Amino acid sequence: MLVLGIESSCDETGVALVDASGQTVPRLLSHALHSQIEMHQAYGGVVPELASRDHIQRVLPLLRQVVQGAGLGLADLDVVAYTRGPGLAGALLVGAGVACALAAALGKPVMGVHHLEGHLLSPFLSADAPVFPFVALLVSGGHTQLMRVDRVGSYELLGESIDDAAGEAFDKSAKLMGLPYPGGPHLARLAEQGDAQAFKLPRPLLHSGNLDFSFAGLKTAVLTQARKLGADLPVRQADLAASTQAAIVEVLVKKSLAALAQTGLQRLVVAGGVGANAQLRVQLNAACSQRGVRVHYPELHLCTDNGAMIALAAGMRLQAGLETLQRAYAFDVKPRWNLADVTSPVSV
Ligand code: KG4
Ligand code: ZN
Repeated sequence: MLVLGIESSCDETGVALVDASGQTVPRLLSHALHSQIEMHQAYGGVVPELASRDHIQRVLPLLRQVVQGAGLGLADLDVVAYTRGPGLAGALLVGAGVACALAAALGKPVMGVHHLEGHLLSPFLSADAPVFPFVALLVSGGHTQLMRVDRVGSYELLGESIDDAAGEAFDKSAKLMGLPYPGGPHLARLAEQGDAQAFKLPRPLLHSGNLDFSFAGLKTAVLTQARKLGADLPVRQADLAASTQAAIVEVLVKKSLAALAQTGLQRLVVAGGVGANAQLRVQLNAACSQRGVRVHYPELHLCTDNGAMIALAAGMRLQAGLETLQRAYAFDVKPRWNLADVTSPVSV
């Protein structure tokens, strides 16, 4: 069964095709991505209206590229899937509109997918794929969550950020240091040359006794430090970046270990854009190998938003019997949508 996936929730247009025949993990046949990062950089963040317009221009050429790249034609598609939420309403509507129009024209079923379910399942496309059950650490630009995952569609929230997400903490701190958007990878690169012990920054909720996170205070502490440094900021920038990264990573690692201890599980899956962070991977690998815990990551290029994870999640939900295929093409999007709510079958 060939499943097309379209991602357009934020600033990346992604299209991918998976083969979800049988019960083995869907196989990625081809995928294509256009990142809008350069376009938004001039504004220091994502401009929603520009994002929507760019998705409109990119999605059809990417779609052609993916289908032709797999040596197939549109008539070969069995299901068309798209990101239904969460994300920017206008951006989501582009993917939803194109998916439903395409499916209607082909007379094929259409399926809305939860963006975070895509991230969470994305490590299944890597060579070292996880097996259920596991704890998932979802760390993206908009979300920081720990979940217990027993099978496809079973997502129990263990804890989450009560304010900023980890990616937001990276991005906002980077912006305060004068780094370009999106700050996460820039801050991480700068941190490689810095001393992580140079500045004492807060580790909020580290000892809270629960699995919630809070990152809003960190950016205030970074701002205070940056102001204190004044004209010295450029020469101490790498130290501040390394100290900021260390604070975020320490909280993510400690809370992940606490989630593993609480659930008694021995497997951790890391997903979302911040999962690309090298320090996070180093620290998690070290802490988990000491405890005999296996850690799984998506391939680096599938950490940030992409169409492959949407096609994959659609394929895995279909294989798990969680979806009734619909040939109803009226669509809506869900800019705000809790992952725990997709546990039961989703009707499109
Ligand atoms: O998952 P994603 O592509 O988008 C959302 O669904 O939000 O995540 C984007 C986030 C941004 O905040 C970006 O700065 C962060 O992931 N990110 C990183 C790294 N690469 C991407 N943060 C830290 N280190 C990185 N290497
Ligand atoms: Zn994402």
